[in-house]
Amino acid sequence: MNLTFIGTGYVGLVSGVCFSEIGNQVTCVDKDLGKIEMLNNGEVPIYEPGLKELIDKNKGLGRLRFTNELTEAVHRADVVFIAVGTPSLPNGEANLEFIEQVAQDIALAMNGYKVVVTKSTVPVGTNDKIKAIISQLTSHPFDVVSIPEFLREGSAVKDTLHPDRIIIGSDSEQAARMLVELHHPLTDQIMVTEVRSAEMIKYASNAFLATKISFINEIANICEKVGADVTHVAQGMGYDKRIGSSFLQAGIGYGGSCFPKDTHALIQIAGNVDYEFKLLKSVVEVNQGQRFNVIAKLKHSLGDLKGKVIGIWGLAFKPDTDDVREAPALDIISALLEAGAVVKAYDPIAMENFRKVFEGDETVEWAGSAMDAAENCDALCLLTDWAEFKNVQLSELRQIMNQPVLIDGRNVFTKEQINQAEFQYYSIGRPQVGSLDQFRESILLNP
Ligand code: UDX
Repeated sequence: MNLTFIGTGYVGLVSGVCFSEIGNQVTCVDKDLGKIEMLNNGEVPIYEPGLKELIDKNKGLGRLRFTNELTEAVHRADVVFIAVGTPSLPNGEANLEFIEQVAQDIALAMNGYKVVVTKSTVPVGTNDKIKAIISQLTSHPFDVVSIPEFLREGSAVKDTLHPDRIIIGSDSEQAARMLVELHHPLTDQIMVTEVRSAEMIKYASNAFLATKISFINEIANICEKVGADVTHVAQGMGYDKRIGSSFLQAGIGYGGSCFPKDTHALIQIAGNVDYEFKLLKSVVEVNQGQRFNVIAKLKHSLGDLKGKVIGIWGLAFKPDTDDVREAPALDIISALLEAGAVVKAYDPIAMENFRKVFEGDETVEWAGSAMDAAENCDALCLLTDWAEFKNVQLSELRQIMNQPVLIDGRNVFTKEQINQAEFQYYSIGRPQVGSLDQFRESILLNP
């Protein structure tokens, strides 16, 4: 099929590239000429494993092109995907300005029947608005379909080529049939539903995953007080198939472009119809508070933080991405600077992005390596679970630090590693010292 993707952010670019990989003719459009030039010159504006290889391959095969000419791209398309951003407004609501503009642009460019697919995450009812905007501006036939996107950053290519499910929200049988055919090479798990349910599935899924994270983080906070180990608790809970083991990793909470934005938006969507989503409000509140556990642990260990040198490992909101949107590191470093600490920060790839958005940039010392960041520190805080940090020799680390204080915000290190290196070690929801781990692992049967 001939496909056009409007918006070359995470969703639009990765989806467009993956659909070209399975044999479709794909045009990716963006109004940002700089981005289009980069892509045409073989550069990729985001870091995503495997993406560059697929772009090079499919460009070479003539199945993938990048342009800022929207009209021509709509002309040649059977299906037009809208994948532009829906950033949060100050009240938490999704900003639909870009979506609405693109709907108008598509309408004015139409030259025959088109299926318009919304990939961007939009509040329930938005696809009906898009339909109304387009029908006011064109007499050509069209259908508007919602296909929410569930890809994760860092594994976006894999998630797109091998999705758990595809949700197609369509009120038109013709459009639904076309889209089932288009997605069939990716999975058999395709659900067709009405448009509004598809819109809701995306928000409900992200809100549920965020709830799992805040739930396990609260369990972790209780574990610390009662002397239980949250990693064991999560493992034990996860064997129950009804609960499942994923998204039960305790830590300093979620960040990123989706969970924070979508939870706020769903609270707002509910509020607009006079429903107070109390549970989700608490999920957001718990997540915000969880970041500051790092500061509390530092104060517990070092007392007043004024003048103390604190190393930070990890600025991205999670490993394998250079995305720092809503990253816990933003709030944690701000709080440290406010408390008068000296901050030395390092991330394997997100440093440049972080510096662009971080306001106190000039007061942070940007380190060239993990060890540089740790050198002469009074404490070191691990905020992102990059593989690079897991593999550090803790005995060497201890040697170069001023004081052996390690705050592990992602429960990366085992207690054996810590006990051997004699760190003053704080993690999230795990008792500090003494462990039965080796014994436990030797008798644990894999279910
Ligand atoms: C998420 C959803 O997973 C994806 O389906 C949706 O399309 C977009 O939002 P993403 O934001 O890329 O994807 O990252 P994800 O891997 O889900 O992690 C989100 C955040 O939760 C990260 O900050 C991560 O560190 C945190 N997290 C995740 C936990 O703290 N504990 C967990 O057990 C899992």
